[in-house]
Amino acid sequence: MSNSLWREQVLPFSLLVGFLAAATLAGDYLLHRLDLVWVGRYLGIPGTILIIGSLIYSARKRKMITVGNPKTLLTLHEIGTWLGSLMVLIHAGIHFNAILPWLATVAMGVNVISGMVGKMLLDRSRRHVQGQREHYQLRGLSRAEVERAVFWDAVAIDAMTRWRKLHIPIFIVFAVLALGHIVSVLLFWGWA
Ligand code: HEM
Repeated sequence: MSNSLWREQVLPFSLLVGFLAAATLAGDYLLHRLDLVWVGRYLGIPGTILIIGSLIYSARKRKMITVGNPKTLLTLHEIGTWLGSLMVLIHAGIHFNAILPWLATVAMGVNVISGMVGKMLLDRSRRHVQGQREHYQLRGLSRAEVERAVFWDAVAIDAMTRWRKLHIPIFIVFAVLALGHIVSVLLFWGWA
């Protein structure tokens, strides 16, 4: 494995996943130590709001709204879903009451990890496109030649398209399960 692939892709990805796992365990441990387990029960609400709020990027990208810098909104999406998922994971804790919330949690976990894979893919294709263009323009190639040379650009973007074909269905499964969990909580609120 080349050094740069390790430094620019594998390491940041592992750190993002590792910190999420470590922060979940630390948060859960702290809540139990401080006798604040009830806080965890409510953390699901701000976590969900953060995740839903960070989907503004998608609305911007699909032109449902026209204000906001897409790049900034994508960064907010990455931070918001990461933090929101952390809250939801602490909220899920190690308590096992019903199967549906756990299915929703697993789907969210897959969704978050898939999001991080997407981030690495996007960073990679961005670097690739820029590097290629500059390189070929400096060599004084014609427009058509530059176009051909940045063929890998298309390949990288194609990788993103294929990734979205997976990420979006995962997101839908997660959204349906989470909605099921939320509706059942609302239905049974105060009954138990
Ligand atoms: C609960 C967690 C998450 C949910 C529900 C979620 C949802 C989504 C959705 C629905 C899209 C498609 C946007 C569109 O094409 O309209 C998307 C794209 C994306 N997400 Fe996430 N995501 C989550 C976590 C993450 C995380 C943790 C990261 C990175 C740290 C991330 C990075 C990205 C990236 C880079 C894209 C691609 C942007 C694009 O192709 O335009 N996501 N996400």
